[in-house]
Amino acid sequence: MKTFNVCIVGGGSTYTLGFLKSFVRLKEEFPLKRLVLFDIDKERQEPIGKYGEILFGERFPELDFVYTQDAKEAYEGMDFVFMQMRAGGLQMRAKDEHIPLGMGMIGQETCGAGGMSYGLRSCVDMIKSIHEIRTYAPDAWILNYSNPAAIVAEALRREFPDDKRILNICDQPENVVRSCSRLLGCNWEDLDPVYFGLNHFGWFTHMYDVHTGEDLLPKIREMIKERGFLPQDAEQRDQSWLDTYGMVQTIMADFPDYLPNTYDQYYLYPEYKASHLNPDFTRADEVMAGREKRVFTECAEVIKEGKLGDRFHAISDAHAEMMIKVAEAIAYNRNDRHILIVENNGAIANMQDDAMVEVVCELGINGPRPMRVGRIPQFYLGLLVNQVSCEKLIVDAYFENSYQKALEAFTLSRLVNDAKKARKLLDALIEANKGMWPELR
Ligand code: NAD
Ligand code: G6P
Ligand code: MN
Repeated sequence: MKTFNVCIVGGGSTYTLGFLKSFVRLKEEFPLKRLVLFDIDKERQEPIGKYGEILFGERFPELDFVYTQDAKEAYEGMDFVFMQMRAGGLQMRAKDEHIPLGMGMIGQETCGAGGMSYGLRSCVDMIKSIHEIRTYAPDAWILNYSNPAAIVAEALRREFPDDKRILNICDQPENVVRSCSRLLGCNWEDLDPVYFGLNHFGWFTHMYDVHTGEDLLPKIREMIKERGFLPQDAEQRDQSWLDTYGMVQTIMADFPDYLPNTYDQYYLYPEYKASHLNPDFTRADEVMAGREKRVFTECAEVIKEGKLGDRFHAISDAHAEMMIKVAEAIAYNRNDRHILIVENNGAIANMQDDAMVEVVCELGINGPRPMRVGRIPQFYLGLLVNQVSCEKLIVDAYFENSYQKALEAFTLSRLVNDAKKARKLLDALIEANKGMWPELR
């Protein structure tokens, strides 16, 4: 049986424990030979690495498991590299959210000014990291979900134009499909979606029943109108995520054609959202007080006790399982359908070819084959052309060290939308990102 070598970049991430457990749960269908965690932060990586040693000692002793800060040791011989780095860490995420909100505009991890701020940091760190990976693992598949995925995907498209083994992906479209299955009372894998957009800015046009071919979207629309919308794993979510999913009902009341991605709320209701977010306690603060604390507390307990016990069975991780299925689709040339971020090239007929769009693709050993969605209506096209222009301009700013291009990107964003505000915000973010952004002149 073929076995695989996998490296996780950002081994100290709050998502790593979910991966470690999922690699054990899925070890028959995606068997690993070697698993390496790589991180630049020893203090974050070490507790998670020790947790891994205990977990695999109990349940996967044949696995060659290593955690390291050495690139050569991490990347040599790898078949797959999963990338989940957070450039600048959660502390910088907090600044990306607090600074715009302090000026009355949305502060969010990937949307608007916060997303562009994070985007410039990620361009620097992701490009550097992928050059390093390619030194030691020229043929490895690089599966990237480091955010902001839209901006990162555009930057990687330009820096590595001939590299066909870099794949960009987000879990939010699949999460929305899972939510629909909760509403309908079916298995989410029995739903066959049609989707178009950009990362964190898209819509489902159809949701077919894979067995009968019936389009369930009209039924889903009626159910959302009556009952609202919840994440599949609502019982494990913080209030802010429940609020975000709840906004799907509002969006569909105003724009009933399609089922939106949850992130569309920021683009469609920027004033409402900005006035309902707390500038002193944003999602970054909630994550640091919640998920991050839980993960490192769990590590400390397991290291102290020297065993996992029942903790292994607590909560399965949809995000990690999705990423492992993506690797399987490639490894076994299964041509499974996944919603991926790819170069448009006609998939959305009336959008520019070189936009990085998010659509359903068949995925196999030769990479993604996007499925055509045809022409999209003017309203959606207008929104997407505006946003893709921001994403392209901020990547121009990175490659050209251009203050002007960054100012244009900020001004064009629906979440800023004013040149004076854009300049003030950009100047504040330049200050906050000293040493982490390219120099903008
Ligand atoms: P986190 O801060 O807990 O973890 C990130 C880890 O990356 C940290 O341990 C940090 O030290 C490490 N890191 C930072 N820069 C690095 C570099 N240059 N090389 C190697 N390691 C580096 O963050 P998190 O909340 O766990 O999220 C991790 C990442 O995954 C973020 O980018 C997040 O946005 C992304 N994510 C994306 C999706 C998606 O759907 N696209 C889903 C989940 C998470
Ligand atoms: C979803 C998105 C990711 C994002 C994450 C943020 O899964 O698709 O791109 O990173 O949510 O979650 P958090 O809990 O950190 O706010
Ligand atoms: Mn995402």
